Amino acid sequence: MHERLGQIRDEALHAVAVVADTRELGELKVRYLGKKSPITEVLGGMKDVPPAERPRIGEVANQVRDALALAIEQRGEALKQAELLTRLEGERLDVTLPGRRPAQTGSIHPLSRVMQEIVDVFGSLGFTVAEGPEIEKDFYNFEALNIPRNHPSRDMQDTFYISEDILLRTHTSPVQVRTMLQQRPPVRIIAPGKVYRCDSDITHTPMFHQVEGLLIDKKTTFAELKGVLEYFCQAMFGAKTAVRFRPSFFPFTEPSAEVDIECVMCRGKGCRVCKMTGWLEILGCGMVDPNVFGSVEYDPEVYQGFAFGMGVERITMLKYGINDLRLFFENDLSFLAQYR
Ligand code: PHE
Repeated sequence: MHERLGQIRDEALHAVAVVADTRELGELKVRYLGKKSPITEVLGGMKDVPPAERPRIGEVANQVRDALALAIEQRGEALKQAELLTRLEGERLDVTLPGRRPAQTGSIHPLSRVMQEIVDVFGSLGFTVAEGPEIEKDFYNFEALNIPRNHPSRDMQDTFYISEDILLRTHTSPVQVRTMLQQRPPVRIIAPGKVYRCDSDITHTPMFHQVEGLLIDKKTTFAELKGVLEYFCQAMFGAKTAVRFRPSFFPFTEPSAEVDIECVMCRGKGCRVCKMTGWLEILGCGMVDPNVFGSVEYDPEVYQGFAFGMGVERITMLKYGINDLRLFFENDLSFLAQYR
């Protein structure tokens, strides 16, 4: 029995020494010190031991128990410490790490901004936004606008043709035609959007933006056209800005004019930007040509109207003093961030 107890002790001490965690240690404690432990089992054979030897066996059994209890307790302490350390290590925060920067926020592109501003100015005069497709039919882009087959603006060099009949719109004027075919007068629309021309150099990009306007009613006059556009120019460039109308030509308006504002850089004195003229051209306009009314079946004896169109890039450059068209399309964040 003596020997057997010694074996149990060695076996148990070894198990305690190699146990992996406190949970397994708990199981060992139950196995070796609990009611059904091998020690209790051995002591069950006490009745076969001569009474004189019994106290000695009992003493040894107690020693084994005490030794095991002590070993378990010490091992328990050590395991607890180790587990605490690993937990702390896992939860460690490095407070010296740099904080997370808020993601860079975007800004509205200067062209979108100015386009919205133009829409707002005309919105305040009762114009509503109309839109049309960028891939357009020859009929809407040219034919219905009184631009004949042999007109130079249809030239392959200017227009991106997709097929003989389909093209990328070269201006926003086809929206006029689409609107007139869709509704009866009065019409009062503003049409912002992208347009395309086969042209690319320092001052031209193959895609650019225009805003078109169209107003049709009974008794619409050139004086109203002048009033509306003068109001617009001064709303965009300042109340004191001088505005002038110059006779011009567009196939879809008659009479036609181009509108100049006093140079925003030199205030009319003459500089490099206005080529010493003191004036900057910013839009084209005119009274809707009766031939255009013919293609949309409006009666030119009853209705008159005016139309105008302008380039958003040019207006934006003048408004913000931007001297290079390419800045709009390079997506350089240090340029764009200035328009927060
Ligand atoms: N569509 C013309 C252009 O692109 C501008 C314009 C529009 C002129 C409406 C007169 C009336 O140049």
